[in-house]
Amino acid sequence: MNKQNILLIGSSGFLGSKIFECSPKKFCVWKAHRNTMDNTKIHHIKIDLTDTISIKKALKISKPKIVIYASRIYPHDSNPKKIKIYTKKLVQLLNAPKTKLIYFSSDAVFDGEKGNYKENDKTNPKTDYGKAKLSAEQMIKQFSDNFLIIRTGYILGRDKKNFDKRSLEVLNCLKKNQKIERFDDIKRSTIKVEKLAKIVWKLIDQNLKGIIHVAEKKQSPFEMGLYLAKKFNFDSSLIIPVSYKKSKIELAVDTTLNIDKLSYTFKK
Ligand SMILES: NC(=O)c1ccc[n+]([C@@H]2O[C@H](COP(=O)([O-])OP(=O)(O)OC[C@H]3O[C@@H](n4cnc5c(N)ncnc54)[C@H](OP(=O)(O)O)[C@@H]3O)[C@@H](O)[C@H]2O)c1
Repeated sequence: MNKQNILLIGSSGFLGSKIFECSPKKFCVWKAHRNTMDNTKIHHIKIDLTDTISIKKALKISKPKIVIYASRIYPHDSNPKKIKIYTKKLVQLLNAPKTKLIYFSSDAVFDGEKGNYKENDKTNPKTDYGKAKLSAEQMIKQFSDNFLIIRTGYILGRDKKNFDKRSLEVLNCLKKNQKIERFDDIKRSTIKVEKLAKIVWKLIDQNLKGIIHVAEKKQSPFEMGLYLAKKFNFDSSLIIPVSYKKSKIELAVDTTLNIDKLSYTFKK
């Protein structure tokens, strides 16, 4: 039996590499990313999301039924205008063969004033990154009728190479016995990268469409730090709780995600 082709854009990234690692054998997953890769390897394609020709070529070669877009668009990740243009282009290119698009959005599309956000709550991003994510969502909704947008918070854990950047910063200080300040009055949804990757494949199996929030815990950065100190047997008193009000940047206070829809989807 022929395996269904899936094009995984961002396969070298933190999330993308874990999605590949967890991929079920019944799919033929094509790995795609931007930097030099060994094109002689089977099922590897070089792609640049800012370059239409490379996208067309990748689609022609891999003939995907599903495109998993676990990628950033360097160096424009926080530029809403550019992200809007490139996302629209990608979605339009996918439309002709009616390919399903799975896109990773963020809790940063919310302003953080209420927390526990549901999928259809009002969006109001505060940061350029959040605005860029929202503009991508809007393009997908406008130009595709076959998509799944997965909104998630902080993705934590480790891939083959290292820990996520947030955990790494804390662990590097703890290893040197250095104190590190973490906000204790902002809240984020978090999820382990492996758990998210496994959920992605389950959602693909269920052929879910639309928007879904996927998260595991609700934590402050201080709580995330304490967790790491405890897990790796470091001195937890090195994690110093501070207020976000000390920060000069404007921060969303509580962007936690409500996951009732996810629980319901898996109960069915
Ligand atoms: N990490 C989080 O906490 C988090 C939370 C919510 C949502 N997300 C979203 O999840 C997705 C994956 O995040 P991540 O943290 O796994 O990212 P990451 O580790 O920074 O990986 C980025 C990936 O994007 C590829 N890439 C960058 N620019 C590209 C371009 N112009 N064309 C094609 N590929 C390009 C990179 O390929 P090269 O290696 O070849 O450059 C790499 O494979 C992103 O959309 C992000 O916004 C992440």
